[in-house]
Amino acid sequence: MIIRAQPRARYAVIGNPIAHSRSPGIHAAFAAQTGEAIEYGTMLAPLDGFAASVERFMTEGGAGLNVTLPFKEQACAWVRQRGGAISPRALAAGAVNTLRFDTGEVLGDNTDGAGLVRDLQERHGVELPGARVLLLGAGGAARGAAQALLGCGVVGLLVANRTPARARQLVAELADQRASAIAWSELSGVTAQLVLQATSAALTGGALQLPAAVFAGRPFCYDMTYAPRSTAFLDQARQAGCHRGADGLGMLVEQAAESFLVWRGVRPQTEPVYRSLRAQLDAA
Ligand code: ATR
Repeated sequence: MIIRAQPRARYAVIGNPIAHSRSPGIHAAFAAQTGEAIEYGTMLAPLDGFAASVERFMTEGGAGLNVTLPFKEQACAWVRQRGGAISPRALAAGAVNTLRFDTGEVLGDNTDGAGLVRDLQERHGVELPGARVLLLGAGGAARGAAQALLGCGVVGLLVANRTPARARQLVAELADQRASAIAWSELSGVTAQLVLQATSAALTGGALQLPAAVFAGRPFCYDMTYAPRSTAFLDQARQAGCHRGADGLGMLVEQAAESFLVWRGVRPQTEPVYRSLRAQLDAA
């Protein structure tokens, strides 16, 4: 009897830069755990070559892609141009982080918000229904988070941004009376149960100028970025006496699991993968 190896469905994460991505390791762990026959690599696309890179991957038989910076908004536009389907959550975020090609049509989805909510609620026990949330930042990451939080029954969403006009624009787009924009200078008057750091300040090396009063009510502090051991924002929170918090490593694993579910119809267990990644990161 000849036993043929099952062909592996091909996936990758596309971005620029991409070498740092942890997604291949996460998906390899999910595949090993679930027995799904997949391979998952990285794809560096030129900044002006997103569409061409995706088309080539599709032509070569690729089954799906994760999309990361700086292409998430472009991916949404590309699916539209191609006449593909965009999921309601991707439409709401205005960004696509998951593409699927193997169903006969192109599907654009976004698993970032679901990953954030799952990490907050399931891993960290944050009660979202009824919570007042302070969102720091008004870029792409903040937009996705805002949509997901409003979908979870938060009672107030205050958006503060260094450039106030951008916060006002995001709130106008959200078109939800629970959302409001506040000036950075008003931060000391805010009380929230959850403070969410959604700026890219860590990438550019600048620390957020935050009044200690933001932490006075002992909110849960969540940083959507991650780093070995701690982040600048979580350090700031701790120095202000606020010890309940987490970085975005769990969100990274949860959004990947949600993409795996979209592609394979199986939800992998995230906790062992999260723990191993945490240990690797903290040892770095
Ligand atoms: P992303 O898709 O990662 O959200 P983005 O759309 O470029 O990236 O948005 C970056 C966000 O981080 C913005 O809210 C930006 O504030 P501005 O709109 O004022 O630029 C915020 N940001 C970046 N560096 C910052 C810093 N040093 N202090 C405060 N906010 C910062």
